[in-house]
Amino acid sequence: MNRILIGAQWGDEGKGKVIDLLARKSDVIVRYQGGNNAGHTIKFNDQKFVLHLIPSGILHPGKICVIGNGVVIDPEALFDEVALLEKAGIKVRGRLFVSDQAHLIFPYHKLMDQLKEESCKKGKAIGTTKRGIGPCYADKMARVGIRVGDLKSLPYFKDRLTYVLKERNEFLVKIHHARPLPFKKIFDHFNQYRARLLGFALDTPKYLYDATKARKDILFEGAQGTLLDVDHGTYPFVTSSNATVGGAITGSGISPTFIDRVIGVTKAYTTRVGEGPFPTQFPPKLMKLIQTKGEEFGATTGRARRCGWFDAVIGRHAVRINGLDELAIMKLDILSGLPELKIATAYRVNGKLTKDYPHAIFEFSKARPVYETWKGWQEDITHVRRWSQLPLNARRYLKRVEALMETPIKIVSVGSKRNQTIFL
Ligand code: GDP
Ligand code: IMO
Ligand code: MG
Repeated sequence: MNRILIGAQWGDEGKGKVIDLLARKSDVIVRYQGGNNAGHTIKFNDQKFVLHLIPSGILHPGKICVIGNGVVIDPEALFDEVALLEKAGIKVRGRLFVSDQAHLIFPYHKLMDQLKEESCKKGKAIGTTKRGIGPCYADKMARVGIRVGDLKSLPYFKDRLTYVLKERNEFLVKIHHARPLPFKKIFDHFNQYRARLLGFALDTPKYLYDATKARKDILFEGAQGTLLDVDHGTYPFVTSSNATVGGAITGSGISPTFIDRVIGVTKAYTTRVGEGPFPTQFPPKLMKLIQTKGEEFGATTGRARRCGWFDAVIGRHAVRINGLDELAIMKLDILSGLPELKIATAYRVNGKLTKDYPHAIFEFSKARPVYETWKGWQEDITHVRRWSQLPLNARRYLKRVEALMETPIKIVSVGSKRNQTIFL
């Protein structure tokens, strides 16, 4: 069975944990978009791993991991991660393949990301991870990107880098008054990674086609989330890739006719890191409480995540765009102890009531949530392993979320560890 796992909110929903659980019943795990802006946390046996680029399936011995063509790769970040895994005794060689069509992140991408963010006037910055993601995807679309497979020919690579760097340096000097980046340093740096990177390179669309024909089970690991999708998210406060279901298709080269199920991952509340509107954001005191209890600090940048109530308007948007078949609800344990819980079922935008997500940012930023209030529960639920053991109010809350999302809940997570999971 081929399954796609998608973040249904603004990222950090707990995709890493769910991938880790589902990887047991998969043969191949594929990352298909984003880059090392992602941070997927997996905890087991008192160990904690945060993976930025390598699919979370790597922690299961024997599983094959693929970094698809839709991912943007910073070789330094990739090899740092390989080293970290190998140091922990996890075999990577022979289990990790990288698409030769994947685009490479260069130092000028990172510098441009950083300078652009820092030079923005108030309210204009996106709050990016400064990993060079946006500029790298921009170059891909402008057809001046450099791909993993381009490293096979040193003269071709040299020619491309010379051509692109000249233009990028002009921009850096004239617009940002920065120093130009030296060609030799970048060339030597990439030349140093070249053989190792090509050692991982593969025609991954063909690999995935053959795996499907051989009845292997493939799990597609989304990064970011639906509301950070460059088309369907809160544009311009988004990332630069398609974090929705279509991204899995174009970003890996698998045909949609080979996909069996699409799984949405969402927290039992909502978080957002970086700038951009967030209608259900908590008032400061409650925000502090959930931030602390939920350890809501970015797995990549360490920034505090803003927290808020569950928002069924963006939730339904995620259900529609991705055609979600089932849901995994994460971090239910963090809501224990609150006297009451709110769920946004609609918005009021400029006085008008709507149940649909407004696409224009100037409308979305004016959205005032219409809340329903549900009774909370006081019990610690981190030891609960069965639906029937959950407090009645927790079950009522989840049933309401399920009804509003019009999608069955199949997983409820009550802690960060593998076994702190209720399967339905
Ligand atoms: P991802 O980017 O979607 O993989 O999510 P992150 O790893 O960035 O953030 C999710 C955080 O929540 C991580 O620190 C996880 O260890 C943690 N986590 C996941 N599920 C649960 C849960 O059910 N309860 C608690 N308390 N923590 C969880
Ligand atoms: P995972 O896979 C949460 C956010 C950044 C910023 C915006 C654009 O761990 O869920 P970028 O560096 O991509 O150009 O930043 O997107 N962002 C994420 N937020 N989780 C992520 O990944 C994110 N990746 C990017 O904070 O608002
Ligand atoms: Mg994350």
